[in-house]
Amino acid sequence: MKPIKVGLLGIGTVGAGTFNVLKRNQEEIMRRAGRSIEIAMVADLNLERARELTQGECEVVNDANLVVSNPEIDIVIELIGGYGIAKELVLKAIANGKHVVTANKALLATHGNEIFAAAQQKGVMVAFEAAVAGGIPIIKALREGLTANRIEWIAGIINGTTNFILSEMRDKGLDFATVLKQAQALGYAEADPTFDIEGVDAAHKATIMAAIAFGIPMQFDKAHVEGIARLEAVDIRYAEELGYRIKLLGITKRTEDGIELRVHPTLIPEKRLIANVEGAMNAVLVQGDAVGATLYYGKGAGSEPTASAVIADLVDITRLATADPEHRVPHLAFQPDSMSNLPILPMSEIVTSYYLRMHVADRTGVLADVTRILADSSISIDAMLQKEPAEGEAKTDIIILTHQTREKNIVAAIEKIQALDTVFGAVTKLRLEDLS
Ligand code: HSE
Repeated sequence: MKPIKVGLLGIGTVGAGTFNVLKRNQEEIMRRAGRSIEIAMVADLNLERARELTQGECEVVNDANLVVSNPEIDIVIELIGGYGIAKELVLKAIANGKHVVTANKALLATHGNEIFAAAQQKGVMVAFEAAVAGGIPIIKALREGLTANRIEWIAGIINGTTNFILSEMRDKGLDFATVLKQAQALGYAEADPTFDIEGVDAAHKATIMAAIAFGIPMQFDKAHVEGIARLEAVDIRYAEELGYRIKLLGITKRTEDGIELRVHPTLIPEKRLIANVEGAMNAVLVQGDAVGATLYYGKGAGSEPTASAVIADLVDITRLATADPEHRVPHLAFQPDSMSNLPILPMSEIVTSYYLRMHVADRTGVLADVTRILADSSISIDAMLQKEPAEGEAKTDIIILTHQTREKNIVAAIEKIQALDTVFGAVTKLRLEDLS
């Protein structure tokens, strides 16, 4: 059978990895795909670097439009990123009848509904394994491997930069700003780390996982997005004393009333495997009703780990390219006419446990006042830690872990606690997931 021809848009870190792995493992990949997969054309603004990387083995151009409009190209790999030109090129490729492979989580989480509708209409595939958790085949697992299950919830460490920072903060007892600078110097964090540290990147990935787990449209605009920039070293230490680690989790959960979709720093019992995922590694824990919990672990970024996911998509498309479009795996796992309209819940309606830290006067009755407010709000206390005041100090920290309650209840209780004249400053609130 004649080779399937691929056009690559952007030969940066992941593009170069894709080119190299495809070349290195060509024979093995061909035995799996049933035909040879050939990168026939590369578009990149840096022509010199693109030529150096491809060594004259394919055509190199600086105008991506030449790739998406070339009738010889069967599959377009979009590795440009962002929602601007990338969206335009992906839609053009689809309109020209080409299958698309993309690692662009931002594009899919925000414009995925439009892109998948266009692909459906044209009978082409849009594959995106590399968009979530890099080399971990989590899309394949959710969409195919777990297809028998009613997925109940997913909790993932899906941003390596923030996991690296949190690991360093805990290991070395350093504050966020110091570790961020070190992470930037080591190349673990970008010069502009906003998307990573503010939780946006993780929320893009959680949005995509929610869509394929529950058969709902992409709804990034309804996700709760909270990063780690305001997390204090003292809370990591207190959490550890109570037997917990703090991780930035992307969480999506099905409830009777709707879907929870949220990214925030989260306390997890240290005995859970996922709590021990350190450094820049990623892990995703999926709870299905039949299979129970399954955990997927690996590198969530990097040249060849991400290329591994891109090439898996190329092979899938190559195998299915000649299949009747009606009988391919649906883009979002569920048939387009069987999508659910379960709403994404507002944050005030989510149910979880909480960690509260308050700075209080070391005086009789303070703890009683605080616990009375919680009891009056039907919030049950699970554990408590009170520190001895420092020498000569009349104030101290109280840390309380609660059982599950609704977010709006805890917010109302915190307002009352903060109004006590024995409580100083704001109460720090973190969410806690048992993940059992
Ligand atoms: N910036 C991401 C991370 C990798 O730190 O995990 C690409 O999504």
